Amino acid sequence: MIEFINNLPKAELHLHIEGSFEPELMFKIAQRNNIKIPYKSIKEIEEAYKFSCLQDFLDIYYQGAGVLITEQDFYDLTYSYLQKCAAQNVKHTEIMFDPQTHTHRGITFETVIKGISKACKDAEENLNVSSLLIMSYLRHLSEEDAFKTLEQSLPFKHLITAVGLDSSEKGNPPSKFKNVFEASIKQGYIPVAHAGEEGDADYVWEALDLLKIKRIDHGNNSLQDANLIKEIIKRNLALTVCPLSNTALKVVDNLKDHPLKKMLELGLNITINSDDPAYFGGQVNQNYIETQKALNLSKSQIYLLAKNSFKYSFLSEEKKEIYL
Ligand code: HPA
Ligand code: ZN
Repeated sequence: MIEFINNLPKAELHLHIEGSFEPELMFKIAQRNNIKIPYKSIKEIEEAYKFSCLQDFLDIYYQGAGVLITEQDFYDLTYSYLQKCAAQNVKHTEIMFDPQTHTHRGITFETVIKGISKACKDAEENLNVSSLLIMSYLRHLSEEDAFKTLEQSLPFKHLITAVGLDSSEKGNPPSKFKNVFEASIKQGYIPVAHAGEEGDADYVWEALDLLKIKRIDHGNNSLQDANLIKEIIKRNLALTVCPLSNTALKVVDNLKDHPLKKMLELGLNITINSDDPAYFGGQVNQNYIETQKALNLSKSQIYLLAKNSFKYSFLSEEKKEIYL
């Protein structure tokens, strides 16, 4: 089974590039930029990466991203993740990045996007991994701030496919970003959003109806509402589920209690993803392997999950054909 999973061509649809920042590379870049980080060893980092909720994690995640300064730093971060994709038979990936995490520290939008997109271009040529970018707005900041980010993105519109919504969910409902999503759609960006990770089903409804999203990031709490499940299926939307993220952030107590199998049985369109692999204990293949084991998923269910990852990607229909 492990070999079957490792060999299966797959796409990753829910990945934060800042969350792929492995401790070793973080140490290297921190040293290069002469920035102190509050850890002396990998062991100390492992100790710090024990979270009791989303906010716990986010505090550490933003701190880690603080060592990224130059275009080369963003290039190295991204290329390192794409090398892991190649090693796992991930043929295509849709990478989220958080511009505000960097622009708020005085790093320009241009530095971030140029470093990331150059790594993507090189990986397509050298590693045969394709990718596209999802610019994510931070929901703990204001809608006005998201509008500024949208404005900054426009000279680089050709490099960005979609917009997303991440960071602290509770208390920051999708409705807060209705106008900026409307404006983003007008600019040609495809809308997605994190919803129903810690927030309730009504946040998922808002993401569907107000933000007009084309894919749901996490979406676990959709299961609270039978009408919502029906609606998600009717609209043929997929959920980008992240099992090891869910256990690391205590969204789910134990992998054996993960609702993924139930989601499949209900007829929801599910994909498996790593979210922030450097922080949650596993790349995408590890997410498949541990979930398969915990829920006793069949080979045909694993195959369906991998197939869904291409089917619900934002690749052109022509490119999807290669994998479906
Ligand atoms: N949820 C919300 N925001 C995030 C996450 C997540 O899982 N990862 C990185 N930013
Ligand atoms: Zn996420």
